[in-house]
Amino acid sequence: MKAQKNEAGMLSRRSVLKESAALLVGGASVGAVGASAATAAASKLPADAPPLPWKWVKLDPLEAGRRAYRNYATKGGCGSATYLALLSLLKEKVGYPYTTLPDMMMIHAGAGYGGHGTLCGALGGASLIINLVAYDPKSTAYMQIIDRLFWWYAEQEFPTARFDDISPMPGQIQVKAMSPLCHTSVSKWTLSAGAQVTSKAKKERCAKVAGEVVYIATLALNEYFDGKWTPPVWKPSKGIEHCLGCHGPDNMEQSTEGMNNQQGHLECLMCHADHTAAAAK
Ligand code: HEC
Ligand code: HEC
Repeated sequence: MKAQKNEAGMLSRRSVLKESAALLVGGASVGAVGASAATAAASKLPADAPPLPWKWVKLDPLEAGRRAYRNYATKGGCGSATYLALLSLLKEKVGYPYTTLPDMMMIHAGAGYGGHGTLCGALGGASLIINLVAYDPKSTAYMQIIDRLFWWYAEQEFPTARFDDISPMPGQIQVKAMSPLCHTSVSKWTLSAGAQVTSKAKKERCAKVAGEVVYIATLALNEYFDGKWTPPVWKPSKGIEHCLGCHGPDNMEQSTEGMNNQQGHLECLMCHADHTAAAAK
């Protein structure tokens, strides 16, 4: 036990030494000399990231969507596809601070985050950018824009035909995603298409989903920053209004007469049976 501790202690001391040597070398390479090397290096450290929101400029939704569609195959799947489509345009048109963001930031979102089938990564990549540009401590609009995007997605039949002109597989069967979850979105589609998740057809479908998500998100942000769009407040669909009446509300900011024991805007009946249905008859 004691020996282990010593070994660990030595290791960490050794790596501290290594790191400070590296710092000095780094200092020298930015041009500082002599005893003041460390201070000079410190003053050349890059500035902290500026606070949000970062600047949005009007983007062409179709160009952004096409980039996302193409990125799917070349940049590591859905999360990278949507994030990099918007980021690349913002780097070109705004530059700093977007130029400080790493390309591989959203690669983990592929296949529903770490392959887990949770949130569709295309939504994750786009949401990150929405947050960067629309965050405002005095407004919840950035939340509503994202909520609206997810709610649109659940109702959307994918893939849309928008990228058929540049797709080797136009006219694919279209199926409602049902929820913002990768799992329902993909599995409902593979079932209807008679395709496997490993097929080229499935990847083509998800590339088009990434394109469409970016197209819609770009439209929304353009309109929002033009002052032409107020992100709508979510309302439960007909089939679940009564669920929210008793179990709601849907968030942790407002308490109501309800039991306040559920959070979120998912379609309840996708996972729960309606335990009030029998009583109602
Ligand atoms: C009239 C009020 C009312 C309505 C309407 C209602 N519930 Fe409930 N629900 C209850 C009550 C009361 C309980 C029991 C709570 C407890 O035991 O803590 C419950 C329990 C539950 C539970 C947890 C226990 C279980 O049975 O699994 C779930 C999940 C649930 N409801 C989902 C729903 C969904 C989904 C809807 C709409 C389709 C819905 N409820 C509509 C009142 C309601
Ligand atoms: C993606 C699937 C899914 C969806 C969609 C969903 N739920 Fe649930 N919910 C669950 C699971 C899983 C639990 C854990 C308990 C269980 O297995 O029933 C749960 C638990 C609950 C509970 C029990 C909470 C408690 O404190 O006992 C309530 C009430 C509930 N859900 C209501 C809703 C309502 C209302 C909606 C729609 C707005 C909804 N759920 C949508 C999966 C879901």
